Amino acid sequence: MRAPRILVTGGAGFIGSHTCVALIAAGYLPVVLDTLVNSDARSLQRVACITGVEPVLVCGDVRDAVALDRVFAAYDVAAVVHLAGLKAVGESMADPVSYYDVNLAGTLALVQAMDRTGVRTLVFSSSATVYGDSQPSPIVESAPYAAVNPYGRTKAMVESMLADLARADARWSIACLRYFNPIGAHESGLLGERPHGPPNNLMPYIAQVAAGQREWLVVHGADYDTVDGTGVRDYVHVMDVARRPGILMANLGTGRGASVLEVVSAFERASGRRIALRIGPRRPGDAPAYWADARGAWQAFGWRARRDLDQMCADSWRWQAANPHGFDDPAPAHASGLPRFQDNTSTSINSKPGHSHA
Ligand code: WQD
Repeated sequence: MRAPRILVTGGAGFIGSHTCVALIAAGYLPVVLDTLVNSDARSLQRVACITGVEPVLVCGDVRDAVALDRVFAAYDVAAVVHLAGLKAVGESMADPVSYYDVNLAGTLALVQAMDRTGVRTLVFSSSATVYGDSQPSPIVESAPYAAVNPYGRTKAMVESMLADLARADARWSIACLRYFNPIGAHESGLLGERPHGPPNNLMPYIAQVAAGQREWLVVHGADYDTVDGTGVRDYVHVMDVARRPGILMANLGTGRGASVLEVVSAFERASGRRIALRIGPRRPGDAPAYWADARGAWQAFGWRARRDLDQMCADSWRWQAANPHGFDDPAPAHASGLPRFQDNTSTSINSKPGHSHA
């Protein structure tokens, strides 16, 4: 019995590569579609170091209908996990059109390709930013859409489009998972987050300060009405959000908020390094504080976060310390002799030869 193929768009990215680890562990075979614009193909070799299976990588864009049709024709895809998208709040304020193009138009192109192929099971990587900054925390899934930045608005619009699709056609099975703040790394230290250029997000920035690659962390605002004046978020371990299956909306969070300074303190404990910081102005588009009411995911499919902030920081630091240059650092020798995923259905359909790991 051949393992079901799951198309993972954005599967070479931070959440995507960790999702591939979890899918393989659960008996699935990921087929990754990724433009590599904010990810690294070598993350999939690290997936192989961990699991013994290297997912096929197809270099392509979810907005490209021809590429999508070729992927569905070449691989017997059973379902899709859609992670490809732009995801930086601050960047979306400066470049909203790109966010509507990639996140909204890209998802539309994907569901149209799925419908042409008859694949109608979709897990959509949504975001807690759909709630905006006016909802009382802990936030429940029934809270209204109130995004305060283009990034959150694109996620809310995609959810509405998917809800309309599921209501119009009962053959669709869709889950919209509202990630709060995924951080951390696989416990092996072989896989983690390595954004291109200066990190937009808190955890990779802190990790690079701890490693001496950045001089200090700028805290975006310390005058919020929070426990210590800094922004509060619900940080959730990336391996917790990587484990998960009408239309269903579910918060993926721990149900607990942590401030920037609390995250810094936890990282100092985990790394034994001091994190130099400076207080800067508030970042446009930031909400002061929000965290999940995570009971919905537990009631719907028995999911809850298992790892706490200290483990998130310990795993993140293990990845940073073992891979100071990210995927430029060689994987440990013992990991290289593992068998590769030989998919007898795979044919090279890449526009760029050499990227497929079939
Ligand atoms: C967290 C806190 C900042 C950087 C992210 C992702 C988005 C979505 C939700 C999944 C805020 C502060 C940050 C820095 C700082 N995830 N900060 N200095 O904005 O909550 O959104 O999670 O969909 O994809 O972008 O996360 O890590 O950018 O910020 O003080 O250098 O850390 O102000 O309070 P955010 P973040």
